[in-house]
Amino acid sequence: MNELYESIEKVIKQAGEILLSAHLKKDEIFSKEGPANYVTVYDRKIQRFLIEEFQKILPAATYYGEEEMEGNCHGDIRHGYVFFIDPIDGTTNFLFEYVHSCISVGLSLDGKMIAGFVYDPYNNRMYKGMKNKGAYLNDKRVTMENKALSEGIAEFGCARYNDDRVDLMMSVVKELFLRSICIRNGGSAAIGISRISTGSNVLYFELKIQPYDYAAGSIILEEAGGRICQADGKEITLDAPCSIVSGTKAAVEEVLEILHQHCGQTTLQKYI
Ligand code: IPD
Ligand code: CA
Ligand code: CA
Repeated sequence: MNELYESIEKVIKQAGEILLSAHLKKDEIFSKEGPANYVTVYDRKIQRFLIEEFQKILPAATYYGEEEMEGNCHGDIRHGYVFFIDPIDGTTNFLFEYVHSCISVGLSLDGKMIAGFVYDPYNNRMYKGMKNKGAYLNDKRVTMENKALSEGIAEFGCARYNDDRVDLMMSVVKELFLRSICIRNGGSAAIGISRISTGSNVLYFELKIQPYDYAAGSIILEEAGGRICQADGKEITLDAPCSIVSGTKAAVEEVLEILHQHCGQTTLQKYI
């Protein structure tokens, strides 16, 4: 792995230490826009730490992070290096001590993803993917079998702050339940997508999600041989939220078909 990626990985592991040593108090939790949308002092602390450290490693980079704070400029993602940062993906899990959250960092160059790191510090699991260099769990190369939906676990994500899509979401979830071995909603999209690279999930589906949730996972998944796209089959966007259907190529095909049957292209456009 090249020096740049090694340095990035080292910084993310240090950020993991911050998460592991957190003792969250009630007055360190704040509400954000929409129902059940929270941020804690640790989300901010980790994002600040990551940006400060990445600035030393790659001074020319700009940042597309979840938390609105210094350094997070939401610049033009089409040019130069951009870090997509979710300092804690799985904030609700973090609030309730589910110990299932991660730090998600994607890196793009001129609008294309070149690397992704999803670190679960509770299990010391570093998923990573680098353009044309493969996907790894810690330092072990991972590839996936092209399993059908019926051969594995299908995960979905949903958030109360996006609940305008609840009917469509639940009807698709019912289909996933009937067609897969089992369904899950783990509460961290980045881990859910990354898990596909090792075969733990065959699918991760969500109707509205942000680039910092899926940027890192998208390259990990693709480098392991999987596919990610929007609910109508279009390419995912890195400059705006979108829907995601990610998984083995076979499972993605099947879910695109389910979505098409459930809504037809016109209704789908209304939702995504
Ligand atoms: C959320 C998680 C969740 C997904 C939501 C995301 P956060 O991110 O990834 O699993 O369903 O759409 O917003 O708020 O924990 O960083
Ligand atoms: Ca997130
Ligand atoms: Ca977050």
